[in-house]
Amino acid sequence: MSDMMERIEKAADAIKAHGDETPRVGVILGTGLGALAEDIENSTSIPFEEIPGFPSTTLAGHAGQVTLGRIAGVSIITFEGRYHAYEGHSVETITLPVRLAKALGAEILVVSNAAGCLNPQWARGDLMIIEDQINMMGINPLIGPNDDRLGPRFPDMCAPYDPELLSLAQEIAIKEGIKAHRGVYLAVTGPNLETRAEYRFMRMIGADAVGMSTVPEVIAAVHAGLRVLGVSIMTDLCLPDALGPANIEEIIAVANAAGPKMTAIVREVIRRA
Ligand code: HPA
Repeated sequence: MSDMMERIEKAADAIKAHGDETPRVGVILGTGLGALAEDIENSTSIPFEEIPGFPSTTLAGHAGQVTLGRIAGVSIITFEGRYHAYEGHSVETITLPVRLAKALGAEILVVSNAAGCLNPQWARGDLMIIEDQINMMGINPLIGPNDDRLGPRFPDMCAPYDPELLSLAQEIAIKEGIKAHRGVYLAVTGPNLETRAEYRFMRMIGADAVGMSTVPEVIAAVHAGLRVLGVSIMTDLCLPDALGPANIEEIIAVANAAGPKMTAIVREVIRRA
């Protein structure tokens, strides 16, 4: 058995010890977006430290736990918090939650994040349903020998985000009166925020939002054959010609304030998908 496969199975066994329901949806909750987990019925939470292969996380805005239960009657597994490359975590660790959700039987992955807004026509606190992504992290979870049980050698990326889930999320946003754009998410490793020249470049190559997560998880999810929905909260404006210093507390506050809008959409997508 490959090391990765063994790692996934050990984590899956630890989760199965807490309940035998098959989750249909896996949800990764980013910075400030933990609120969805509070809506879970019949929930059981497991701290990351109690799952083999899951290092503890101490980041602001991240609880660092897995919660099992149901939302709108649908069995789900949520990860409150994620691993980032800038913390020094390997791509194997960063993508373990995705592969764990798949191993437990999930068919859909929902990823969320707080992101910097590159699109000059959007506002702080707006949502972006992710339509496509650009990997500028310089890392990739699929490098190395391919384990065919996890997915194909050369996964296709012509539609990494499921077009049906994307349309459904947009339809729900319109119905609920929530402003949700669709756009392209670009990922860098961080941890420094970007320079003006970098923002200018990112905008030129077609990105609407920039962040330090999500892309490795989505690559692993596509590899695993999961249908993906991604939602970003625009927490700060990254306009190269009108840039002030970013304030991390403010970024987290905007993410927290916009959280309920995202939760409303994700909840309804889970119910209807
Ligand atoms: N860059 C800039 N602004 C941000 C980011 C980022 O990675 N994440 C949230 N706001």
